[in-house]
Amino acid sequence: MDKLQIFRGELLHCLADPADVGDDNSYEYFQDGLMIVKSGLVEAIGPALELLPKLPAGVSITHYTKSLIVPGFIDCHLHYPQTEMIASYGEQLLEWLETYTFPTEREFGDPGKASDVAEFFFDELMRNGTTSALVFGTVHKQSVDAFFTAAQKRRLRMICGKVLMDRNAPAYLTDTPESGYLDSKELAERWHGVDRLRYAITPRFAPTSSDEQLALAGKLLMEYPDLYLHTHLAENISEVEWVKDLFPDRSGYLDVYAHHGLLTKRSVFAHCLHLSDDEFRLMHESGAGIAFCPTSNLFLGSGLFNLANAENQKVKVGLATDVGAGTSFSLLQTISDLYKTQQLRNHRLSPFKSLYLATLGGAHTLDLDELIGNFLPGKEADFVVLDCEATPLIARRLWRSKNLTEKLFALQMLGDDRVVKHVHIMGEEVYRRK
Ligand code: GUN
Ligand code: ZN
Repeated sequence: MDKLQIFRGELLHCLADPADVGDDNSYEYFQDGLMIVKSGLVEAIGPALELLPKLPAGVSITHYTKSLIVPGFIDCHLHYPQTEMIASYGEQLLEWLETYTFPTEREFGDPGKASDVAEFFFDELMRNGTTSALVFGTVHKQSVDAFFTAAQKRRLRMICGKVLMDRNAPAYLTDTPESGYLDSKELAERWHGVDRLRYAITPRFAPTSSDEQLALAGKLLMEYPDLYLHTHLAENISEVEWVKDLFPDRSGYLDVYAHHGLLTKRSVFAHCLHLSDDEFRLMHESGAGIAFCPTSNLFLGSGLFNLANAENQKVKVGLATDVGAGTSFSLLQTISDLYKTQQLRNHRLSPFKSLYLATLGGAHTLDLDELIGNFLPGKEADFVVLDCEATPLIARRLWRSKNLTEKLFALQMLGDDRVVKHVHIMGEEVYRRK
């Protein structure tokens, strides 16, 4: 029998990118809304008074008051093995990797460690209302098995991959072009398309992969064209200079990846702070996407992403925490820093654009927008109930807000895990704030 679930409350979801259709046409909002979920998928959404009479007699309704129900947040780039090293002091990217990241990732050769951190990581995602993500493992294939095993048990839609890294890293953390290729292929065959899971071929970034390794990553992508490609690109000035030295025959950083066939509509590049206009154009033409990581970019002093440029050149962008360089698992906190980075660029972000980047825009960037990202009929019912009275200050601020725009903006600037009251996966409640 199909399971029927009914949720009533203030419902908000995005329909399109505000950059394309304007704020007012970018979302749908029901102050007293009803969402009907059948076997984990959205069946219908609309005004409660319109839909209530159509329900079967006696069906039970979950009514969420004083809250805003939005689609689950989508984190387009983060590293689960870096969970315990979040907030590591003092360095910029390349020194940060050497000092903190590589020694931490070494521990994931132990499958017990990997499972323990994976479980904690998913608990943390749920506490923050993040229901889907594109995630780095480590170079160890057990790290990815541990991740997917935990995600599968929780019925989450997740993408992950084993890191490819065959040079410019400690010997204890490197693979070879051949072993990286074979391990990735084995993992992809084991996990890609199983339940809600998908596999991403994951070279760490150009400096830690030889041309041979990147060529084999391209070969694997050619053999399995529906896999993802997930890596870092143009995050830090010293990194960009290093790539020029390491790949003198390439016209730029993006060309290193393009040359090896790594640019597809399922390619996601984290950061992209230091790209030329030509590189933005190539991103657009290939359909590849960008994971914008505001808290990480500020924390590592990497730079300010040019969102207006991405909008003008019609490049897909999703929001990301980039934990452990990012300083929070919360996409609400990430939105708050997102807004500030764009203020520093004189680019005024509307709260609807921010919501888009954290939900439907993320889904689009991950080529998952047929499945998640909003509440259109047929989508998987992953959603978050945000508490409009989570703290005394939030309650006071929201009581004064005159309209939805003001309310949503204040929630984004002041909100974090404290406002996440309930999280539902495929309709089922999986987290309830204590
Ligand atoms: N570039 C290469 N590796 C990493 C990483 O682990 N984090 C970040 N932020 N950038 C990277
Ligand atoms: Zn990263």
